[in-house]
Amino acid sequence: MHKPSKNVSRLIATTAIAATVFSAQAPNVLAVTQPHPDKELSQEAVQEQLVVEDVKQLDNGVMLDLSSDQQAFIRLFSEDMAKVSILKEGEEEYFSEAIKKKDWAAPEFDLSQADNEITLSTKEITIKIKKEPFGIKFLDKEGNVINEDYMQNGAGYDGEKPYVYKKTDKDEAFYGFGEQGGLELNQRGESIGMFNTDAYAYQPDTKYLYTSIPFFMGLKDEKAYGIFFDNTNRSYFEMASESDDYYYFYADDGKLNYYFMYGPEIEDVLDQYTELTGKMDKPAKWSLGLHQSKWEYTAEDIERVAETYREKEIPLDTMHFDIDYMDEYRVFTWADKFGSEALHQKLDNMNFHKITINDPAVKKDPGYFMYDEGTANDYWAKNPDGTNFVGEVWPGDSMFPDFSKEEVREWWASKHDVLFDKGIDGVWNDMNEPAVFDGPYHTMPLDVTFGEDENQRSHAEYHNLYGHDEAEATYKAFEMYKPNTRPFVLTRDMFAGSQRYAALWTGDNVSEWDHLQMSIPMNTNIGLSGVPFVGNDIGGFAGRPDAEMFARWIEVGAFLPFSRIHYDSDKKAAVKQGQEPWSFGEEVEDISKKYIEMRYKLMPYLYNTFIEASEDGTPVQQPLVYQFQEDENTYNISDQFMFGESMMIAPVIKEGQTERDVYLPEGETWVDYWTGEEFKGGQTIHTEAELSHLPIYVKKDSMIPTREVQQYTGEKPMENLVFDTYLEEEATYSFYEDDGATLDHKDGEYNITNFKVERKGKHIEFTNKNEVTGYDTEIESYTLKLNGENAPKKIKAARSKYKEVDSIKEVKENQETYFYNEEDETLYVNVPADEDKKVKIQFKGKKK
Ligand code: GLC
Repeated sequence: MHKPSKNVSRLIATTAIAATVFSAQAPNVLAVTQPHPDKELSQEAVQEQLVVEDVKQLDNGVMLDLSSDQQAFIRLFSEDMAKVSILKEGEEEYFSEAIKKKDWAAPEFDLSQADNEITLSTKEITIKIKKEPFGIKFLDKEGNVINEDYMQNGAGYDGEKPYVYKKTDKDEAFYGFGEQGGLELNQRGESIGMFNTDAYAYQPDTKYLYTSIPFFMGLKDEKAYGIFFDNTNRSYFEMASESDDYYYFYADDGKLNYYFMYGPEIEDVLDQYTELTGKMDKPAKWSLGLHQSKWEYTAEDIERVAETYREKEIPLDTMHFDIDYMDEYRVFTWADKFGSEALHQKLDNMNFHKITINDPAVKKDPGYFMYDEGTANDYWAKNPDGTNFVGEVWPGDSMFPDFSKEEVREWWASKHDVLFDKGIDGVWNDMNEPAVFDGPYHTMPLDVTFGEDENQRSHAEYHNLYGHDEAEATYKAFEMYKPNTRPFVLTRDMFAGSQRYAALWTGDNVSEWDHLQMSIPMNTNIGLSGVPFVGNDIGGFAGRPDAEMFARWIEVGAFLPFSRIHYDSDKKAAVKQGQEPWSFGEEVEDISKKYIEMRYKLMPYLYNTFIEASEDGTPVQQPLVYQFQEDENTYNISDQFMFGESMMIAPVIKEGQTERDVYLPEGETWVDYWTGEEFKGGQTIHTEAELSHLPIYVKKDSMIPTREVQQYTGEKPMENLVFDTYLEEEATYSFYEDDGATLDHKDGEYNITNFKVERKGKHIEFTNKNEVTGYDTEIESYTLKLNGENAPKKIKAARSKYKEVDSIKEVKENQETYFYNEEDETLYVNVPADEDKKVKIQFKGKKK
């Protein structure tokens, strides 16, 4: 595979845009901040091998006494998930904050022993443990090896560093690893590092980015497994970067502790992983709309931009307030103009949602309530000598809340009334690496401490959790002040499991074509790491896009799970142009409007996709391999993605390009969304794609729920739900509906309706069945929109014969009517929502 290696972290960024350096370490050098150098494993240490000396059965697995006073525990958490730990004798079982579910009912299993082998087996997997040297092999129930230790090096500790070597071969692909740079989806061959880093204007080969999720999947012979290395220290994953025969992962310190989960389906691995680390909540519907933001919008800018969206009728739900809203960057305060009643009233009257940024750093400023309270209560991170650590961020010298303490999280949460009282709906956590401008490597020294007594941890151990715990504190603020409202927290830094509290944006990307391209493998791998709610600054944060780049970016941006235009302050940009949809002339404004409207039209589909994400961890933006792992051609496709279950997006992501190849996965018939042309899967097609054209393909036999476009979520009731249907034989949709805003769904206030459209010889049947009816719906009728059909002969349900009308408008407004559009061969049928009988659509003959 040819791709830029992240092995050598590039120090010199390619553009002047990346010139801003926050690091006091290297003034005047064009640098993307990176942490201190990697610590490598010693070859000698990894060749020392462990031996099993004794075996004890546990109620959920085995404990093995190993040579050199260590113990291994292999615990079965389910039929196809095992936890493997190697600990120093007497050490307790370890769970980091990533783990949501610790208690798993042990599955039934058999344990047997032969001379040099111990075998544990459940209904789904077999684990063979070699005693001398110690090594583990995972097999499926047919006896195929799914994953095994690389016996030359095995697993153990190099001093303080826990490590695990695994066997691989050149056919194995790797996915996940949270937020990674690069232009490729498949991470085979990569050197990956996890240490949350403020990597302003990072490049595709920047090794350390903001978020650390030490979870990955291996895929070979169509079978997938996952490994979650639950270690919060800085960690490393050498994914066959040195040899095609093995890969390994290790950490600077901490315990050797990983979970193995077997698929064989990727979706099953992800379901298990998110069962372990938590699923995202059902999102607030408004948060799925478009967001607009800029660093250094003035109060007047915010008002003007908001108004312009409404004037131009470009849908928008949310305006963001970046750091300038604070009084001299003091968190939980308002600068006069931004706090003004008039501004908030105006935004509220225009029905905007509002999000404020928040930073962890608290200005060192006696007399400022946050500083005074935090100091009086001893809430700050500490130097090794017990004094408070002070470091520089936006407000100058600052203190850093010790979020590892529950009391501090509660305190932090309790401060959010300052924001909520102004009607703030969401909180955007930034700089939570934590970034420290004058700290070594742009963060705190590694010996700063968090917690006390037996809970004390070094910054080295706690670093990757700082943003996670801040996100939890922010989430708590919603529980405290808005108990029946769905929280919206956006964060730059995550650890495994943070999806339970927050959505993720991928930090300070750059207005460069590479970044648009990179966003696809980046987001889809983040999706495969348990975080469905992800997005990138549309148009790029650092620098400014030109018209073409913005047009292409908004085409992708309209299909991001989290969709926000955000850009850097004018001070740093060579070109001072705006980055709102109308900043690039009429053509790009029209293109932006077209795709943003499409997102709003698809809102019922998008919302339902998120509901699925909240239930089983399914990504919203999926790599093709997620649904098509039987088709090996999808394993390395990095420039196309599935938007939910049914729609495939193949964007143009290269400058000057107006055509591209598109791979259509095997096993489906694909329909060009714009022309209706059909293609068999399992082939690469070529398509034209002028600037305004985003290639989209829909799986045949799909129903896509859509609605009338709104300027903002909640503008108009959804009285008519339109099923955009592409029928071959049979299409179904299980439609979930609730208020999209409160937690009332937990008390049963939701509906599930199962829809089916079936072709039976000369007619098509449509049925809808209520499965759950706890929510008082606004839907009065369904429009079944059948694409690519012949003119019908007649349509009837039990009660009546449907009447033919002359326009789409008429059919949408009148129940029990239909309209056939000969031009595009589309049939619209309006079915009353309370229709409980089959609707039969009869044709003159069978469809050719
Ligand atoms: C950081 C954030 C960026 C924000 C800026 C100012 O660079 O990543 O999104 O605009 O700080 O708050």
